[in-house]
Amino acid sequence: MKIQLASSYGFCFGVERAIEIAEGHRGSVTYGPLIHNKDEIDRLKTKFNIGLAERIEDIETDDAVVIRTHGIPKDELAALKKQKHKIIDATCPYVTTPQNIVQKMSTEGYSIVIFGDKNHPEIKGVVSYAEDPEDAFIVLESEELEGLPLKGKVAVVSQTTKKPEDFAKIVTALMATRKEVRVFNTICNATFENQDAASELAKKADVMIVIGGKHSSNTKQLHSISQRYCKDSYLIENEKELEAAWFEEKDLCGISAGASTPKWIVDNVISKIKELVKVDEVV
Ligand code: F3S
Repeated sequence: MKIQLASSYGFCFGVERAIEIAEGHRGSVTYGPLIHNKDEIDRLKTKFNIGLAERIEDIETDDAVVIRTHGIPKDELAALKKQKHKIIDATCPYVTTPQNIVQKMSTEGYSIVIFGDKNHPEIKGVVSYAEDPEDAFIVLESEELEGLPLKGKVAVVSQTTKKPEDFAKIVTALMATRKEVRVFNTICNATFENQDAASELAKKADVMIVIGGKHSSNTKQLHSISQRYCKDSYLIENEKELEAAWFEEKDLCGISAGASTPKWIVDNVISKIKELVKVDEVV
């Protein structure tokens, strides 16, 4: 069997940057998981003594606090500042952009529409920047726009990891009913580079392994894209989940990894596959 890595996979710019920032602050605490990858968070704990606090009240008075890649809600940032913690902001700049847009446009009197998942930390953060919380709406489907008390002028942003064609559906639906629609394309390219590479590889692979956190939205999307072209596609967090049966009578195994997956986990997966099945070549 041959193993082929996708031409683009793994860490995006924002995650690489957040890890570098955290590594530079040994002994600090991240408020919420820095990135969506448990193994990498464990490595930061072991090697750099970087802790994880899920709640503000769990943070010790003299802790330096790292703000995670997806950002946090405005009031929580204010609470941390009020407690005089040293704040180290590792929010991805591509996430700060929609936060700033929402703040500015809502100050200018626009209703805010956010295309995204209301339970995702990024979106919880972005929506919190609206001046009037009653005039900011999170939607996943264009049907959800029906009946919303939107003003005549609307500003719309997207979760960074969403698909442009789905964002376009929301924009089109808004255009049909509103006088003024300001569209801010806040989707991040890093996600597409990995997605395009995964779909190219899945088209020719007999089995696809997608590595990443099971809660990571971009990893789940990579997996669903892979499944579209290669029915034997598996989503795993690390090498422990691999099964020898997946590789029986396969000629080409494709590998992709989500934007929060470090290279060392990908290397472990390749080593484990080599133990399970005879691998002639890794390209
Ligand atoms: Fe940032 Fe894009 Fe990564 S938003 S965290 S560079 S996927």
